Amino acid sequence: MALEGLNLDLTEEHLAVQQAARDFAQTELLPGVIERDDKEYFPEELVRKMGELGFLGMMVSPEYGGGGMDTVSYVLAMEELSKIDASASVIVSVNNSLVCYGLEKYGSEEQKQKYLVPLAKGEIVGAFALSEPEAGSDATSQQTTAEDMGDYYLLNGTKNWITNGGRASVYLVMAQTHPELGHKGINCLIVEKGMEGFQIGKKEQKLGIRGSDTHSLMFTDVKVPKENRIGADGFGFKFAMSTLNGGRIGIASQALGIASGAYELAVKYSKERKSFGKPICEHQAIQFKLSDMATSIEAARLLCFRAALDKDNNRDYVKSAAMAKLFCSQVAMDTTIEAVQVHGGYGFVKEFHVERLMRDAKITQIYEGTSEIQKMVIAREILK
Ligand code: CAA
Repeated sequence: MALEGLNLDLTEEHLAVQQAARDFAQTELLPGVIERDDKEYFPEELVRKMGELGFLGMMVSPEYGGGGMDTVSYVLAMEELSKIDASASVIVSVNNSLVCYGLEKYGSEEQKQKYLVPLAKGEIVGAFALSEPEAGSDATSQQTTAEDMGDYYLLNGTKNWITNGGRASVYLVMAQTHPELGHKGINCLIVEKGMEGFQIGKKEQKLGIRGSDTHSLMFTDVKVPKENRIGADGFGFKFAMSTLNGGRIGIASQALGIASGAYELAVKYSKERKSFGKPICEHQAIQFKLSDMATSIEAARLLCFRAALDKDNNRDYVKSAAMAKLFCSQVAMDTTIEAVQVHGGYGFVKEFHVERLMRDAKITQIYEGTSEIQKMVIAREILK
């Protein structure tokens, strides 16, 4: 039954998380968001505050310093943060979904105590390093190598477009140990900033999420202790795919937030701005746009909840997560373009926020698997 378990009633706890994220976004993220985008930075102080409020380890069990919340709460928080600042919410998404989730599910007890606890408490931030100059969508073609040297791996290679690349203290790095085994020879290694031979490369200048720090990473003969491998030998690709499934729910809710943020601004502006003797919201041309935006956003939100509920109820969520990411990112793109249009000339200038949301929307169709990859994942699930 397709709608099995789809209970859409939010609990008191859900509403409290949503309100906390909304308040934080309004009071702490909104001031300075235009300047941060312009100057391409996101202050440590704000990351620390997000950690103190529990946003960086929302779903990690309290035993390891997290908030013990469900994925629905995560979606609600991600939407609220992303309405205002998608550069902030990508830090939250990567830390929760790609770093903490994987460590909690697959890490050893020692790894959890050493790395997960400070990550979940938001004392440090993590990064997930899969993409390479020649391996983006085609993630099985890892060129980075982790040569087995007995009690350590010798790590060599380059990673590209790594979110939190400069800021992180801990990096989950995918690397090939047994090339003859293809993706079954890949391992995930926990690499610490400061390990000899590990260099942070240039910071990318980007179209959107300009506050988020995106770097390349270079590894030259980095000695990574064997105990820093996550899971069994050769588990790295499965590890990456499994964490990305949850990551896609995070990015879907980020896209949802970008769309709903732009929509709310468009509604507000359309009531204030007058043309031809009346507020522009009284023109049918604007009403049609607002109706289309509202309808798509509602559908996007339902897909996010579907995926979140699948994950929370231990159902397979590969397909629902990919569907949510595919649809929400398209809605983010369409809605932000229309929100700029509703604002007319004002939409094209920075102080009205919608041009930034439009630029930020684009990355949601690219990272954690392009829209084409989501279609591939969905097709495989429905045809298998
Ligand atoms: N969940 C679980 N397992 C999966 C999976 C999924 N979604 N997708 C693939 N796998 C498994 C397969 O079952 C298979 O396992 P077995 O060999 O045991 O059967 C294995 O992975 C290899 O899969 P395929 O044979 O299907 O490999 P492929 O090369 O044909 O396709 C792919 C794989 C789905 C295209 C994959 O490479 C992919 O998802 N690519 C996109 C990578 C991506 O999302 N990168 C994002 C970078 S991270 C990022 O953006 C973070 C950030 O900064 C914000």
